[in-house]
Amino acid sequence: MAFPPRFLDELRTRVSLVGVVGRRVKLTRKGREHSGLCPFHNEKTPSFTVNEDKGFFHCFGCGAHGDAIGFEMRANHLSFTEAVEKLAGECGLEVPVATPEERRQEARRAGLHDAMEAACRFFEAQLRGTGGREGMAYLRGRGLDAETIARFRLGWAPDKRDAMKNALMSETMPESLLTEAGLLKKPEDERAAFDFFRGRVTFPVTDRKGRIIAFGARTLGDGQPKYLNSPDTPLFHKGSTLYGLALAREAARDKGLVLAVEGYMDVIALHRAGFDYAVAPLGTALTEAQIEEMWRLADEPILCFDGDSAGQRAMARAADRALPILKPGKSLRFAVLPAPEDPDSLIKARGAAAMQAVLDAARPLSEVVWELAVAGRPLDTPERRAALEKELKDKAFGINDETVRWQYLGSFRDRMKALTRPQWKPAGRSPQGQAKRRFPNDPPLRGPDGRLPGAGRPAPPPSPGERQERLLLAILVVHPPLLEEVGERLGETPFSDSGLDNLRRGILKHLDIARDLDSEAMRSHLRADGFSRVLDSLVDANAQAIARPDAIHEARSLWEHIFTLYSRKELAADVGHAVEAFARDPSEANFDYLAALVSSRGRGLNEDDGHD
Ligand code: UTP
Ligand code: MN
Repeated sequence: MAFPPRFLDELRTRVSLVGVVGRRVKLTRKGREHSGLCPFHNEKTPSFTVNEDKGFFHCFGCGAHGDAIGFEMRANHLSFTEAVEKLAGECGLEVPVATPEERRQEARRAGLHDAMEAACRFFEAQLRGTGGREGMAYLRGRGLDAETIARFRLGWAPDKRDAMKNALMSETMPESLLTEAGLLKKPEDERAAFDFFRGRVTFPVTDRKGRIIAFGARTLGDGQPKYLNSPDTPLFHKGSTLYGLALAREAARDKGLVLAVEGYMDVIALHRAGFDYAVAPLGTALTEAQIEEMWRLADEPILCFDGDSAGQRAMARAADRALPILKPGKSLRFAVLPAPEDPDSLIKARGAAAMQAVLDAARPLSEVVWELAVAGRPLDTPERRAALEKELKDKAFGINDETVRWQYLGSFRDRMKALTRPQWKPAGRSPQGQAKRRFPNDPPLRGPDGRLPGAGRPAPPPSPGERQERLLLAILVVHPPLLEEVGERLGETPFSDSGLDNLRRGILKHLDIARDLDSEAMRSHLRADGFSRVLDSLVDANAQAIARPDAIHEARSLWEHIFTLYSRKELAADVGHAVEAFARDPSEANFDYLAALVSSRGRGLNEDDGHD
């Protein structure tokens, strides 16, 4: 039964921990602590300590740890209730008696837990029987081995109206209980209740402690809904449950990482690939309760979103949910999958390393909020900039915690400044630049067709780093003489994309003669060396930006900027956007945007590092 917290506090205060432990262990006093030989493992020198002030014992040898109740439980093999009753009796404290109503509820919950466990066993057995062949084939077809199926306790609900009902219903598990557990469905009319899950693969959903509280169940075909979830019951509240939490908890604590993804199969695939701290909400957007639950395990859970426009919207929703409840040190990070993959398909297609790369590129909440606000929005008039500023301020004022709110306001202010007041002017450009002056225009996160760049295409969009690599090479192909100035640094900088790195070395081979080459000549050398394909894609994609023959000064500045960002590993999305914006539209404004980023990042580095 559940004891009232006040009673337990009182009990812990009254009981002498040293007294309780002292009955079992010979303790010697050492300052504030007592120590002795650990009763829970074999040892010759004492590593077992008792701290009466703090009310706990701890063994540095075996890790045993707990309070007086925990000690009684371990030392005498008692249940929690038994240990509490024993200690209360010893110190003359009366154990509060539950009201009959509380007892009934407690018994009811226990009954519901039993029913869910029994259902899970039934489904698991069905999956392994002849009736479950189809389900088993489906799971195997999705790449799950027997061990994983057992670990996640996957099962099969037969495609009959009352297979489970017949197997489970008994005197102790009446129809009403099974219905309350959400396992049976009672029609509106007087007809008998029937199995809620039929002809589906079952995924048990547990509470934090691993007790089953619900099921998700997937159809094998194209039937709707794809996943059927248990209704809310006294045990199961969808909005405060995370799939996989019990299995992820230990790893999440140890690694200080939690990862939230969308689906059941994603969680399973991630655990199998070593990301054993993955969880998922149950088909809904993350709630505050779920975010709080993740914060119990790690300071900055990573939320993983699809790279399509729905994913983008979900990201904005999650950010809005999280802002009000942020606390010092507690935040979120956002990772975006290359469209059209989900974690399951990404791992299958490209392995755990690809997933790791997605997580490594996760961006902090503050950056995502900023980006979503500036995306695809012209900032060329004071009013438009003011509108942005107001929107950001409103968001920041939504943060309940004063310290975090203050930090957000400051961070947005800095970003506004960096955006509108470039500190650096490229050398050698006429005061009235050819491009019409306008304020930097982030490329829209969503394309004109409403889709994200790259959405629906088989290949993922290039990463920010790869974009930088491409542009660095493209500039040199268009303006070979620059190679003389930058060749040494380029030679010391291996690229991460292997195709581009080959081309980098290919270009460097012509360092000696570069001074005398024009773009045509450089290209024909490279073609002769077998780089035609990579060259075409490279120059086409970036041609606009750098093709103007008189633009060598600009090209030099641009190269320097990008190289600076690249060698500092500035791969954040705003840098990626700035590079991409310039590649698409080489206007003065976009150039200034890039320059502003270089200088604002430069300041940031100086402050952090105290050198440079
Ligand atoms: P998805 O439709 O993205 O499916 O739903 P998925 O996770 O990739 O599933 P597979 O790989 O096709 O098996 C994402 C999640 O949304 C919930 C489930 O939790 C699912 O895992 N969902 C989806 C539902 O609850 N009901 C549905 O009908 C569909
Ligand atoms: Mn999937």
